[in-house]
Amino acid sequence: MILYIKNIDTRQDCNKPWEHLLEQYPALVEPIRESWNDPSSFVRKIYMITPTKTRAEQTPDLTRLAQTLYLIPNLFWIVVEDEPQVTLRLRRLLRSFHLPFIHLNIATPDYLKPTQNQSTWRRPRGVFQKNIGLQWLRTNTNKDEDALVYFADDDNTYHWKLFQEIRKVQSVGVWPVGLVGELLYERPICLNGRVHSWFHYMYRKRKFPTDMAGFAIHLRLIHHYSTYVFNVSATSIAEQESQILNTMTTIDQLECLANNATKIYVWHTKTQSMFLTSIERLRNAGMKYDLVNQL
Ligand code: UGA
Ligand code: MN
Repeated sequence: MILYIKNIDTRQDCNKPWEHLLEQYPALVEPIRESWNDPSSFVRKIYMITPTKTRAEQTPDLTRLAQTLYLIPNLFWIVVEDEPQVTLRLRRLLRSFHLPFIHLNIATPDYLKPTQNQSTWRRPRGVFQKNIGLQWLRTNTNKDEDALVYFADDDNTYHWKLFQEIRKVQSVGVWPVGLVGELLYERPICLNGRVHSWFHYMYRKRKFPTDMAGFAIHLRLIHHYSTYVFNVSATSIAEQESQILNTMTTIDQLECLANNATKIYVWHTKTQSMFLTSIERLRNAGMKYDLVNQL
């Protein structure tokens, strides 16, 4: 058994205690060391676009994601809030992480939001926000920059090794996604690094049956297809991934990553919505209690 937590020698008189911490807690630096030292994924920049919806679970979800990003060198986080104005609440949270980020916003129009008891499935989720992220990239990055673009929802679970795979992408890379499509995983089936077919069940007509978390695109393609935007129409919601991939690449060109698409490094997890019914009871009892904005 490897025990990573060793006793800190309190007798040591050290001006920079963290230098000792690095020796004593290798888990703090090992992912970063391995990323920097991996010759096949030399540390190219990743632009990561995260749409984020206001809800009670948003702060913990973003906290978990941000704390994954501490392990990832050279990543720029584009957070696009689903609000008519950026909120001070989210700005404060993002600043507290000390990560390189930009905080943008756009509100999903009311008429496209699901009404109560209506399924969210046919409604755009983070589509307007991803488009704002694309627009920002086109105006704020150089088309010749060697960098990768990844769409990362705020509620998924990301292994740090995923980002090593993203950095290997030359044009468009694909890999398995866990817990998606009512399966333990969906994945491309690859032969010699190229996609042969797909393992999936839901929405079988999709040309590229992968979740948004299952691919990354070189920045050059985002600039090249300079008018491409995700489509917000209801019928295209299950087709978001296929539309962007069909525009920017072909199946033959896809690069199979994550050990020929045999490793799962990202999971399409969902945070359960909490029952906050006691809030109403408190309000009814005359107590002032703000759900989100005062936190
Ligand atoms: C699935 C895919 O995993 C997403 O990558 C894809 O964008 C989405 O479907 C889609 O169909 O467009 P799912 O887990 O079903 O995602 O949806 P959510 O996690 O609820 O939303 C995806 C992202 O958009 C999240 O980061 C969420 O915070 C954000 N979002 C959702 C908004 O910004 N506004 C919304 O009204 C809903
Ligand atoms: Mn999700």
